[in-house]
Amino acid sequence: MAGKRILLVIAGGIAAYKSLELIRRLKERGASVRAVLTKAGAEFVTPLSVQALTEDTVYRDLWSLTDESEMGHIQLSRDADLLVVAPATADLLARMAAGMADDLAATVLLATDKPVLVAPAMNVRMWEHPATRANMALLESRGVLRVGPNDGAMACGEYGAGRMAEPMEILEAVAAFFARANAPEPPAGRPLAGRRALVTSGPTHEPIDPVRYIANRSSGKQGHAIAAALAELGAEVTLVTGPVRIPDPPGCSVRAVETAREMLAACEAALPADIAVCAAAVADWRVAGSSDRKLKKGAAGPPALTLTENPDILATLSRAGERRPALVVGFAAETGDVVEYATAKRARKGCDWIVANDVSPGTGTFGGDENTVHLITADGVEPWPRLGKDAVAARLAGAIAARFTGNIPAEETA
Ligand code: C5P
Repeated sequence: MAGKRILLVIAGGIAAYKSLELIRRLKERGASVRAVLTKAGAEFVTPLSVQALTEDTVYRDLWSLTDESEMGHIQLSRDADLLVVAPATADLLARMAAGMADDLAATVLLATDKPVLVAPAMNVRMWEHPATRANMALLESRGVLRVGPNDGAMACGEYGAGRMAEPMEILEAVAAFFARANAPEPPAGRPLAGRRALVTSGPTHEPIDPVRYIANRSSGKQGHAIAAALAELGAEVTLVTGPVRIPDPPGCSVRAVETAREMLAACEAALPADIAVCAAAVADWRVAGSSDRKLKKGAAGPPALTLTENPDILATLSRAGERRPALVVGFAAETGDVVEYATAKRARKGCDWIVANDVSPGTGTFGGDENTVHLITADGVEPWPRLGKDAVAARLAGAIAARFTGNIPAEETA
């Protein structure tokens, strides 16, 4: 966020004191911060504190001759990369939703053509009131971004949702916004036209008997997004997917399979391909000698399942000799020491790139919409910011296209 210009609107809530900390944190990261303080906001933090921390004039009055002569409210609203409203009170959210311009903060928020991030802060009943819910929903439908509020004890003695997000959380939301905004544009046109891509996605189901199976929590969101992103860049994509509850991605030929062995067979049938991306969470083991009749409860107690190893699709494609795709990309879902394990995995599997992510409990990666990954190539490790799975897919497809169009230094290719 170095060099980014933030316009911070501080409205009147007890959480305003946290905004002083937020200013410091934003400046530590190299952003410049300019502040608008509402009349009510100035009841909670002094203009002097805000001014000292921002090292800039504090803008407070729509009708101030000095403020307006230095910088008009229209210019103030445009001279920023992001507007952050923290705390965003129920009153200010209502005025924003209604399009009012009855003070400098509301006017700036109405006049801006820049993205707005709000950090709501209010009593739990105010937050849960249908009026506030409707205002927030309307603002979000217009593209306003939101961080928090959190649950917790409130200054008014009640407990519930309404506490403003902590300064570090707001900082992370700002950083995530700029990471998304800075993600490279996908190459123009259809740079992968004429290339064939094979993508695996989703879990596999390994039968125990005709009604029971062993599975895992993969949703298929990341693999499907990659298939869609490659198709968007012009590739002819075959998606081999295990059982998922998400729609087929547009523009791809989809082969639905259940087991690892079926997935391998479908992948081999899809060769030759220029690109293989193995994003499926393939079960490592299957039940040896699974029953073709439903196992019954009985006096003998529960059956003992013997597991046997499944074929490794990624390793098989990576070592497919003449039929090996020119670029083979694997995934590594780890729960700690992500980069070390993934680097070792790249060598062990024989693939060119590994997209490594942390699936530890609490990261929300499995089934969630966001992912924090490292791209590991022959050239080293490239950490990517936290991105939506669609943005990870677009960025990966962009890197793949660059690899094929020679649009990157040779040493970066595997
Ligand atoms: O060994 P591990 O399962 O962690 O490796 C993950 C990578 O290997 C993923 O790209 C996954 O799609 C692929 N894989 C595979 N076949 C297997 C196991 C994993 O293609 N049987």
